[in-house]
Amino acid sequence: MHDAPPSMTRLLHPDVAPQPGGAPLVTPIHQTSTYELPRTAEAARIAAAVAPGAYYTRYGSPNAREAEAMLADLDGAEAALLVGSGMAAVSAALLSVVSSGATGGEVLAQTSHYTATLTLLRTMLPGFGVDVRLVPQEALAAEVRPSTRVVYVETPSNPTMTLTDLAAVRAAAPDAVIIADNTFATPYNTRPVDFGVDLVVQSATKYLNGHSDVTAGVVTGSAALVARAWETARVLGPVCHPFEAWLLARGLKTFPLRMARHNASGLAVARFLAGHPAVRAVHHPGLPEHPQHDLAVRQMRGFGGMLAFTVADADAAVRVLRATRLCRNAVSLGGPETLITHPASLVFAHQSPQELAASGVDPAMLRLSVGLEEPEDIIADLAEALSTVD
Ligand SMILES: Cc1ncc(COP(=O)(O)O)c(C=O)c1O
Repeated sequence: MHDAPPSMTRLLHPDVAPQPGGAPLVTPIHQTSTYELPRTAEAARIAAAVAPGAYYTRYGSPNAREAEAMLADLDGAEAALLVGSGMAAVSAALLSVVSSGATGGEVLAQTSHYTATLTLLRTMLPGFGVDVRLVPQEALAAEVRPSTRVVYVETPSNPTMTLTDLAAVRAAAPDAVIIADNTFATPYNTRPVDFGVDLVVQSATKYLNGHSDVTAGVVTGSAALVARAWETARVLGPVCHPFEAWLLARGLKTFPLRMARHNASGLAVARFLAGHPAVRAVHHPGLPEHPQHDLAVRQMRGFGGMLAFTVADADAAVRVLRATRLCRNAVSLGGPETLITHPASLVFAHQSPQELAASGVDPAMLRLSVGLEEPEDIIADLAEALSTVD
């Protein structure tokens, strides 16, 4: 038996010998909330810096910095900010540029957005006194007014796959801050910065990570605007934790390979559905019959793995949803597994029937995130499910 209890001091400061060998090839997970600072004036400089990577994890981490470097490069942007979810990215970007009152001007946005974004625009921002005007997506550029200070777009939008003409919006609103949610297109298919967009927001939970195992979001743009978004996130605190950032950096290493497959399979599944007698309409920008196909060709280098299709009615949609086996019934998108959802029943809790109609969600619509399985297997599963309503 030991005479003395274990030493807390020795436990907290173990004497570990440096290991011979090189540096790790893969960035280790910096699972720490804080960093030992130099005992010089340098400490104060680190504390005052924008987005220091090794100061305090709410401010950033080496893992977040690594993913941010990859994400800024993918978007062709000066800087990136990684946060804890796509909605944290949307909120940090918007809250960093809006203001209330006579000098605030208006935020112009679409009636069709991801549901939580719609709640932010319809309810929360007006609650803070911010003037928000929502207009049909296709008419956005024509709706810009001299008082428009911020334009918020989502292209293609969730779940209707409607596009916003980024170049037209830039031309119509030369002085506004334009924010684009590029989650569906991803920088593989559209780089909004190339069309003059100021800030790009994305749910990295989706294609960027691509493995259905991380929740994260990213804001990219000029160093000055991303610094403002960082300041907002530093105060509100939606951290992307080191392990999540590490997983995201790992997922990003195969991003272009995955996207090429999503693009090819998305188009193959869209073509199959377009030719099926039980399907009334297919919403996929890669199909020539998509009303904005010409714009899609100008603005997108591939059309992605997201699509929506409508069947006879809501009852038929639910029957198809229940009959699929390979296509799994789960929200989210952009992962390796094909996911199918019935948007009208899922977003109903957050939107009135009128709001649902304005955002283009048809109760007979199903949304599909085409995954990385063999495309013929996805098509066979859908054919089987559609045979129940044919
Ligand atoms: C277009 C779009 N933007 C933002 C989000 C929000 O992302 P997150 O769930 O990572 O907060 C989503 C989520 O589905 C989305 O589809």
